[in-house]
Amino acid sequence: MSDLLKIIKQRRSIRRFKRDAIPEAIIEKLKQALIWAPSAGNLQSRKFYFVFNQETKEWLACHHKGTRWFVAEAPLVIVGCADEKKIEKYGECGQSLFVINDVSLSIQNAMLVAADQGLGSCWVGLLDEGKVRKILKLPKHLRPIVILPIGYAKEAPEAKERSSQEAVVEVR
Ligand SMILES: Cc1cc2nc3c(=O)[nH]c(=O)nc-3n(C[C@H](O)[C@H](O)[C@H](O)COP(=O)(O)O)c2cc1C
Repeated sequence: MSDLLKIIKQRRSIRRFKRDAIPEAIIEKLKQALIWAPSAGNLQSRKFYFVFNQETKEWLACHHKGTRWFVAEAPLVIVGCADEKKIEKYGECGQSLFVINDVSLSIQNAMLVAADQGLGSCWVGLLDEGKVRKILKLPKHLRPIVILPIGYAKEAPEAKERSSQEAVVEVR
């Protein structure tokens, strides 16, 4: 198995974190992972907020649709936002699809780099958009679509079952 596939298969959604800080060199790698993801027309219609402030993390944890306290436990929380201004040239398709893809690819990169560096993370998508906008004082053109807590894992969950290759992939 290639190293990358090994990381892909070993990554888990982590929902319990140690409080230990993440070394600065790894924070830099996470930023690089976000930036180097592909994007529609290379417009890079995305923006990421790195939240280290404990109070802000607690607000984000509470204003999930239902509380997700593990968000406040993680030493770093990345909030991924779609930049609806940058994607304008692609019209409706850009707004409804490409801009979400742009953010998602970056976040997936960051999750894999985090896993490679021995860190856990969890995509949190059930967020209250309006409240996250207020907490981070986001400009109107930025739409928060994912909250990603990252930190050293305090749990080791089993792999969740996956559909078979046959069910997911068809040759035509
Ligand atoms: C688009 C998306 C939204 C998700 N939203 C949440 C969420 O709001 N809360 C949560 O605890 N996990 C969330 N997850 C994590 C999934 O539950 C998790 O990826 C899935 O159960 C598979 O487990 P694994 O990541 O450990 O392989 C989300 C994942 C994705 C891709």
